Amino acid sequence: MTDEPYEFATWTSFIPESEIRRLLKYNVPYYFGGGKPGALPIETLAQILIDLGNEQLAEIKKGNPERPIDDWNYGATPGKAFLRKTLAERLMDKDGITLDSEHPEEDIMITTGSQQALYAIIDTCIDKDDVILTTSPAYLGFLMPAVKLGARVITVPTDLQGAIPEYFEEAIKVCKRELGKKPEMLYVVPDSDNPKGTTMPKKRREALFNIAMEHKTMIVEDGAYREIQFKGQQEPPIKAFDTENKYVAYLRTSSKEAAVVRIGYSVFPPRVREHVNTDKGYLDLASPTIVQRMLDIYYRKYIDQVLPKSLETYRKRAEVMGKAIDETFPPGHRTDPTGGFFIWWESDDKDFDAREFLEQMALPNDIIYVPGVAFYPLMGLSYLPDRKQLVPVERALNTMRISYSYSTTEIIDKGIRKLGGLLKKALT
Ligand SMILES: Cc1ncc(COP(=O)(O)O)c(C=O)c1O
Repeated sequence: MTDEPYEFATWTSFIPESEIRRLLKYNVPYYFGGGKPGALPIETLAQILIDLGNEQLAEIKKGNPERPIDDWNYGATPGKAFLRKTLAERLMDKDGITLDSEHPEEDIMITTGSQQALYAIIDTCIDKDDVILTTSPAYLGFLMPAVKLGARVITVPTDLQGAIPEYFEEAIKVCKRELGKKPEMLYVVPDSDNPKGTTMPKKRREALFNIAMEHKTMIVEDGAYREIQFKGQQEPPIKAFDTENKYVAYLRTSSKEAAVVRIGYSVFPPRVREHVNTDKGYLDLASPTIVQRMLDIYYRKYIDQVLPKSLETYRKRAEVMGKAIDETFPPGHRTDPTGGFFIWWESDDKDFDAREFLEQMALPNDIIYVPGVAFYPLMGLSYLPDRKQLVPVERALNTMRISYSYSTTEIIDKGIRKLGGLLKKALT
């Protein structure tokens, strides 16, 4: 009982604040928490603002205020045509994605961050008790909305190459048999996933696409780290196999590759797009036009020039973090990312509780990471391949996601060695 004179919706009683959002409040020197981009092209971004401002002033002085007024105004719900066109061309050229041959830009939808696209697609496709299959672990920004919106989330084990298609297929069959329904959605992050930093090889991507086609279910492919690839070859997106735009919802974002200006861009199958667009119309009407204008300039003129420098910074940071972990952590395993923002570490000591350790040891010593427990659903089921069975959701508490994206190599080296020392003391 509270002394509020009113009541809240049921979800407020069991959905907590996002662990990542909660941890963002701590301002500690050794910051390995949220996936904040640290190698932003700030000079370029500042120049874009200046150029855009000057352009507007010139138009206003000439007595043509129409475009500046439009830039500061409400825009169409699916986004401004100029940005959709620029991004459509980029997705076709760089990633081999097939879009409508006459009006490719109409296949692109702009959202307020890809987070809004994730929320809206669950909201659009999932009724209470519908089933979603995803990886174990998975991005918490997908898991929480899925649980909040009533989905039954089933997690499927992963390895160092990310999602394992055979397990997904087995899990689909077990769902049909035991729950009497097929999953509505398979959610994966194939390029340097959050939280593990693993990447699916081409064969797995194609296999997962074929499974979705065969079982008539949709893949939600989250390509948040698609452009943040600093080592090895790029595999095609799963979306590239979906030449008829039928089975894959492909979500991308400017947050990691440009700046955190809350713009995501997606390719949805047409009917999905229609419904997501309706949803967005009620969620926030439209995403800010002026930000779309800025990004249009960035993607047309600058990204290929400035992104390689950021990637080199992330590569060095990942390398320094990996080395410091290898040299100082107690027995355990870690991932070796070829892109993205994260290393995932798992202690060999199954009783280790990374959340407790964060509160009691890491934070008091000015270090922050995200305990792995945050990346498993609050409730749901896990598919166990050895037993070919669904069991109550399994969580690995002895894990942590350590982000190298924000801090400098010096901070990473010092902070990770300090964390290693503390872990060794606690675990040996
Ligand atoms: C895998 C993944 N998807 C989606 C998002 C949401 O990104 P945004 O809303 O900034 O586009 C994030 C953010 O960290 C992410 O890691």
